[in-house]
Amino acid sequence: MFTVAIVNQKGGSGKSTMAECLAVAAELEGTASAILDLDPQGTVYAWSKRRESANPPVLSVTAASYKDEWQRLKDAGAELVIIDTPARLQDVVLSAADLADLIIVPAKATIKDLERVEDSIKLACMNSAKPAFVVFNQVRAQKGRSEDAEKAIKSQRYPVCPVRIGLRVAFEDSDMTGQTPQETEPSGKAANEIRLLYKYVSRLLAQVESEGVNNFTGEEVNKSKSKRVANG
Ligand SMILES: Nc1ncnc2c1ncn2[C@@H]1O[C@H](COP(=O)(O)OP(=O)(O)OP(=O)(O)O)[C@@H](O)[C@H]1O
Ligand SMILES: [Mg+2]
Repeated sequence: MFTVAIVNQKGGSGKSTMAECLAVAAELEGTASAILDLDPQGTVYAWSKRRESANPPVLSVTAASYKDEWQRLKDAGAELVIIDTPARLQDVVLSAADLADLIIVPAKATIKDLERVEDSIKLACMNSAKPAFVVFNQVRAQKGRSEDAEKAIKSQRYPVCPVRIGLRVAFEDSDMTGQTPQETEPSGKAANEIRLLYKYVSRLLAQVESEGVNNFTGEEVNKSKSKRVANG
């Protein structure tokens, strides 16, 4: 079983939406997935209640219960667990990072978001360095902005996902019924970007599996030199 933690200390960067979309992407490809909602706001849990399908299961957990629930999912045969984390509670982020094989940091290409990326990765890798990458989310059509942001992040030597997720109404529209763009507009751009992101994540997880999380030298993440993010 693989575990992916979605982390960004900046609120509203798209963590919960990405957790939902990636878990559904896995389900649609026949991979049994589940989400641990570690955010006391319960955004993903509420999404699952609006949803007709029981899959992916979403468990609302606390810092006290998340490990037991994670183990239960593992015992029940889950293949992918995605952990959604809150923007502010640092100890909760550390708990998620402890279990994770891979950390994803969704970030808007704004200065306020970018300022928090470094803190977020350092926090997530405080106890043990984990493979981590930034994925630009809610990217506007004008190319220059996200390219400038990408340069700024790369200058901090953090890996950036080659797939960018556009600012698209399909995310908010599908959210109304507890769904994702892959379900409501499967041939739309949002769905396609999520599929590509999921493919990228799957490739990295396969590399983590073959190399081990502590010896990970993943080619993809390696490209930007900071193959793993050291504390400090
Ligand atoms: N790519 C996107 N395009 C358009 N809207 C998006 C996109 N990604 C997320 N959103 C919307 O942005 C809002 C914030 O997203 P979300 O709740 O996923 O962020 P978050 O990082 O989990 O927030 P918090 O820090 O409060 O937990 C939601 O209304 C969501 O539907
Ligand atoms: Mg959230």
